[in-house]
Amino acid sequence: MNKCFFLTGTDTNVGKTVTSCLLLQAASKLGYKTAGYKPISSGNEQSTVSLKNLDAKLLKINSNIKLNYYDINPISFMQKTSPHIASQLSEKIIDWQIMSSGLNKLKQLANWIIVEGIGGWYTPICNKQTLADWVIQQQLPVILVVGIKLGCINHAILTLEAIEKSGLLLSGWIANEIISPDQYKKYYLQILQQKISAPLLGIIPYLPNCKSYIINNFIDLNKLL
Ligand SMILES: Nc1ncnc2c1ncn2[C@@H]1O[C@H](COP(=O)(O)OP(=O)(O)OP(=O)(O)O)[C@@H](O)[C@H]1O
Ligand SMILES: [Mg+2]
Repeated sequence: MNKCFFLTGTDTNVGKTVTSCLLLQAASKLGYKTAGYKPISSGNEQSTVSLKNLDAKLLKINSNIKLNYYDINPISFMQKTSPHIASQLSEKIIDWQIMSSGLNKLKQLANWIIVEGIGGWYTPICNKQTLADWVIQQQLPVILVVGIKLGCINHAILTLEAIEKSGLLLSGWIANEIISPDQYKKYYLQILQQKISAPLLGIIPYLPNCKSYIINNFIDLNKLL
């Protein structure tokens, strides 16, 4: 059976890419044909032929089917800013058709796909629409990464409400201990578990100098809705 999830986070820099890589590794261990997808990226390096994004490169390494860079990241911007701003500055429209056909291609090749968002749930992709609008069009179930740090309870509740409003299924969430643990971490986790009814798929500990391609068992895919 085909599985395809949209992975969002409580903010930018909360561990969406690290978590996506771990999810791909866990699915690969279960025997799925896996692919990561980053429809839009920003803040990219110019390589000899095109712009290349670090997230997309990590997703490519962690996909177990052979893919080209463009298959994983069809839309990329050099500017390290919100995609709609990068889109305006570079005079390049973010085309839903490209995003959707890229995903459809992956669905033909893989049976377990993680689509990594950009920024948070309501990241604008043009003046009127956010990436969430595309996710709703695609009807993708959602996985939420909460970066465990001060402020995460508020960010998590706001994101949960927005996902609920979209009508999409929240298939599970992951707690990522993005900063070195402090004395309040356990309270954040307790409250989040009370507030989020979707299954907690795993807790990723603080891993200084973490290499997202290291295989580990932080995530339990059997709990996914
Ligand atoms: N559990 C962790 N322990 C230590 N460092 C982490 C952990 N998770 C992520 N990081 C580090 O935090 C940084 C941000 O992580 P990551 O790139 O996965 O976030 P992101 O949400 O995908 O960011 P973006 O919004 O730019 O896509 C990276 O340098 C990553 O290696
Ligand atoms: Mg990322």
